[in-house]
Order: sequence, then C-alpha cells, then structure tokens
Amino acid sequence: MSQTQTPTLASDPIQQALCPLAFQMRRVSGAVVGRAAELGAIESEMASSRGGLAAVTLEGEPGIGKTRLLLAATQMAADRGFISVAVSADETLRGPFLLMRSILSSPGATEAAEGTDAEPVLRRALQALSGRGDASLETLPADQKLLRQFDLTALALRALALIRPVALFADDIQWADEDSLRALRYAVRTDAASPIFLLLAMRPEETAVLTEAVNLIADMERIGLIRRLRLDRFTPAETAAFLRQHLGGPVDVNGAATIHAQAEGRGTWPRTPTGLRRQPSRPSSSAGPGSCPRTRRSPCRRPRCWGEASACATSRQ
Ligand SMILES: Nc1ncnc2c1ncn2[C@@H]1O[C@H](COP(=O)(O)OP(=O)(O)OP(=O)(O)O)[C@@H](O)[C@H]1O
Ligand SMILES: [Mg+2]
Repeated sequence: MSQTQTPTLASDPIQQALCPLAFQMRRVSGAVVGRAAELGAIESEMASSRGGLAAVTLEGEPGIGKTRLLLAATQMAADRGFISVAVSADETLRGPFLLMRSILSSPGATEAAEGTDAEPVLRRALQALSGRGDASLETLPADQKLLRQFDLTALALRALALIRPVALFADDIQWADEDSLRALRYAVRTDAASPIFLLLAMRPEETAVLTEAVNLIADMERIGLIRRLRLDRFTPAETAAFLRQHLGGPVDVNGAATIHAQAEGRGTWPRTPTGLRRQPSRPSSSAGPGSCPRTRRSPCRRPRCWGEASACATSRQ
C-alpha cells in the first residue's frame, strides 16, 4: 500500500501497538502506597527532560511494585502535557524491533503525530522496522540496513519530540528484544538534546544477563542522563496502608503485622486474609494486588502468591 493510500498510522493493522501496557492498566486500582521519594525523583527527572533527554530506571524484584509506579508516572506525564507512550516487553513474544515498533505505533505516538510533519517520519520508521521499507533498504548489506533502521527510529522520536515533550515508558525491559534496545541506545546518543523522558522498569537479575540492556544503562550512566531507582520493600506501616486500601476499610493491627512479616515487606497479598478485616467491607476482588499473574507463562517468580498454590506451584511457599 502506498503512503497516500494509508489514511492514518493508527488505522493500519500492521502498525498497531504490539506490546501495550493495557493489561497492566486494567489491573490497577487505588492510589500508590508510599513511594513518595521515587515519585518525587520521577517528577524531577521528568521536569528536567524538557531541556534534554533524561532517564529513570525502576529496578526491583518481582511483585515489588515497578509496574504500579510506572503507571503512576504515565499519569504524571499525561497531566504535564507530554506525549505519553507506555509499552511492555513480553516474556515469550519476542522478535526484531518488537518493542520499538510498539513504541512508534502506540496510540500516544500515532495520535500526536497525526496531521503533523512527524506523521510521515513515523510511518517511514515503522515500515523500515517491520520489513516493509522501500526497496533500496532491502538491497543494503545487513549492517547498513540496521544502521538505517536505527537512524529512522531516532528521527521519528525526534520528530515526535518537536510536537511536544515525549515520555516513553517501557516495562519489563528484561524481556525486551536486543534490536529495540540497541535502537534506543542509538536514539539516546543522537536525540540527547530532545525533550524526551525515558522510564525503564526491570527485574535486575534477569536484566543483568541481557547484554544490550546492560549496555544501554551503562551508556546512559556514562553520559550522566540516568537516575536509577531501586525499589525497597514496604515498611510495616505501608503494608497496613496497602491492606487497608485493598480491603476498603480498617484492618486489624496484629493481622497486618503478621501479613507484613510473612510477606517480608513485599506488596504481596493473601487471597483469603482470615481475621484481617476489622469490620465487614466490600469483598476482596478476585485478582488483588500481588496476586499471582495467571497470564504469565513461565513459573511465577513472585515470592508468595497466597491462596494460589495451584497457579503458582513453583513459587517459594
Ligand atoms: N506502592 C504500591 N501501591 C499500591 N499497590 C501496589 C504498590 N506496589 C505494588 N502494588 C500492587 O502489587 C501488585 C504487584 O505490583 P507490580 O505488578 O507493580 O509488581 P512488579 O514489580 O511490576 O512485578 P513484576 O516484576 O512481576 O512485573 C500489583 O497489583 C500492584 O498494583
Ligand atoms: Mg511488572
């Protein structure tokens, strides 16, 4: 299909967002408990990104609250007028440029680009990344083709940032494809002066064995563009607040302390917290915070998935 026949980026089925954060967004309920320092750091880096690229990592063990914080940051970006793009790498769905294609084809990017000078730039990058580029690209040697794809990606991000500051959120970086991470590294170098805020959430142990992710973070650290946030476990007071929020009412102090000790301060949640609720309240939802994510295909690595022994048999009990 020629460019003139393509009505909009968003309506092209091949170019629709591949790895959106939609699933995680549906799971979120209630405010972020604690994390004031992290939210403050994100807010400050987001503000400084208006003067040039700034990045933040959220690092922590499974279930610690990285995605929850990332979602809060997407709201912060939208409130501040950024073009907000949120994607998530997938544990099993991998392929060349999958994450980057998802970024460039996200509703946030395509809607902002529509009708602007950025629209053809974005389309060209997407076509190149998805192997539908012009014939000349296909005739290039592999390394030059890759470089061209990186170039077009960087140009597309820069073109978006000329419309409004851009906030890119990428969750579960430990599962990102290496081409996308390299493209991001290239963009960080070439678009450093553009108003781009980048937030990457990851499990550190798994990211440590992903060479391109390590390179990307090391590069940004060298340039001084990145702030790394490591999420700590909840304090007893935060666990109690978390439980209160989930149950929708006061909780028994001793019960909350027991849960805190058993969960070791993680944002994990007992499915049937016997004796915890102090007064009748609304029933707990069937998929509360910290519950085992049933959709995950590999064994759940969250430390405890209360009341979910069958779905989470390999987790530490
Ligand atoms: N600070 C918090 N405030 C409110 N809810 C939280 C907080 N931290 C975690 N949760 C809830 O706990 C659950 C687990 O958190 P989340 O999914 O963000 O963990 P994660 O670090 O992204 O884990 P994973 O590495 O498995 O992706 C979610 O339901 C989330 O909403
Ligand atoms: Mg997560």
